[in-house]
Amino acid sequence: MDTTPFTNSQIVAAFDDKTRHSKARHLEARDVFPSGIVHDSRHMKPHPIYIERAEGARKWDADGNEYVDYFGGHGSLLLGHAHPSMINAVNSQVSQGTHPAACHDLELKWGQLVKLLIPSAERIRFTSSGTEANLMAIRLARAFTGKNKLVRFKNHFHGWQDHVAFGSKYAGTDNIPGIIDGIIENVIVADPSDPDGIKETLEMDGDIAAVILEPTGASSGQIPLCREFVKMLREVTKAQGIVLIFDEVVTGFRVSAGGAQAALGLLPDLTALAKILAGGLPGGAVCGRRDIMQLLDFEAAEFHGFQKIPHQGTFNANPMSAATGVEMLARVAETEVSEQANEQGRKLMAACNKAFAKSDLAWAAYGNGSSVYIFTNPDRLDIDPENFDAFAHPMSVMERASNHAAKDLFRLAMLVNGIDFNSKPGAIVSSVHTDEDIAATADAVTASIAMLREEGHV
Ligand SMILES: Cc1ncc(COP(=O)(O)O)c(C=O)c1O
Repeated sequence: MDTTPFTNSQIVAAFDDKTRHSKARHLEARDVFPSGIVHDSRHMKPHPIYIERAEGARKWDADGNEYVDYFGGHGSLLLGHAHPSMINAVNSQVSQGTHPAACHDLELKWGQLVKLLIPSAERIRFTSSGTEANLMAIRLARAFTGKNKLVRFKNHFHGWQDHVAFGSKYAGTDNIPGIIDGIIENVIVADPSDPDGIKETLEMDGDIAAVILEPTGASSGQIPLCREFVKMLREVTKAQGIVLIFDEVVTGFRVSAGGAQAALGLLPDLTALAKILAGGLPGGAVCGRRDIMQLLDFEAAEFHGFQKIPHQGTFNANPMSAATGVEMLARVAETEVSEQANEQGRKLMAACNKAFAKSDLAWAAYGNGSSVYIFTNPDRLDIDPENFDAFAHPMSVMERASNHAAKDLFRLAMLVNGIDFNSKPGAIVSSVHTDEDIAATADAVTASIAMLREEGHV
């Protein structure tokens, strides 16, 4: 992070003043956790906020400040915070026991709902997180094909395990300490702005087991991918016998009830799910083609004489996550919650763009439905906020905007004005964000731009 804008900033001073209790807790936490945090995305200057309570689309910090929340439990809360149906699900299960160490009805219902909603899900295995789901998907692909290499894409995020942690947006380099060369040698981090080169690699390299991607683009669409590109990947991987993995940890049940794959009309061989899957509690799943998933099947391994992939996990499909997961996915299946969130997302984009235009600032809000991003235009392109097309710009431009120094001060200014946008910068919208929340957000955008302008940052 560029620290220059933080020196002598009135925005920083206002944030500091407003969040004194958060600051005190952060100083205490620095004696306990590296950087005082438990997830890299909480790292912010001058300090992160401590939240005490959350309900619906709002949350309240340790100083009593109220925020409209657009972090959305990192994308896991399609129904907002403390939704009555989730409280009910937790309350009715907790008294029945949190871990039977046995099969239970909720896991079965949960798996059946995944099968119902995700078009490519013939078989499912639950995990405890999205990181684990991707790890298993990659292992399945290598075991199924008998090949070694994994093709990933620059800036696409798939969690923090060794095979995917380098070359992602958050690692920012080609390698990170602690990952052995043998893994790095078998991972190709490809540039999605070179589709012809990728096609050639997939056709010429005979040792590729899998291609994994975020199907709507890096950071769930911040650097968007067009359908044509994904279609090309589907066709080439099919022709070459390469396993195509969609990481739908964020997009699953969000882009549409059936995820990005249903919206794109393109089916992967394997899919990783998490976040909305478990309704706000921990949980993940890998699902997909029966012939690949049967590598986890004792009977199939015995019958066909292959070596099964072992898989354990103390909290896989634990009853608490299964209870909220069943409740969540039943709502996705039976109601319009995914589309409601998308509709509110589109309203938020329009309201922010109006605010940018009114402030005469060439920034723009864009995205796909409930995943909203702010293009901070570091190259000062001549754009019209209300007619911005993210696909019309080279990926390098979109990438630079996602790393622009002004974004951190913008986020801070938005917090000062009562809005918790995420650090992309952007917003994850839920079905319970109201038109009033959106109007308050647009006002905060206008006020925040004025603060940035006052200090000469835009
Ligand atoms: C696209 C994507 N894949 C995988 C993950 C990792 O999931 P988890 O944090 O549950 O391990 C994330 C987390 O944000 C994600 O956004």
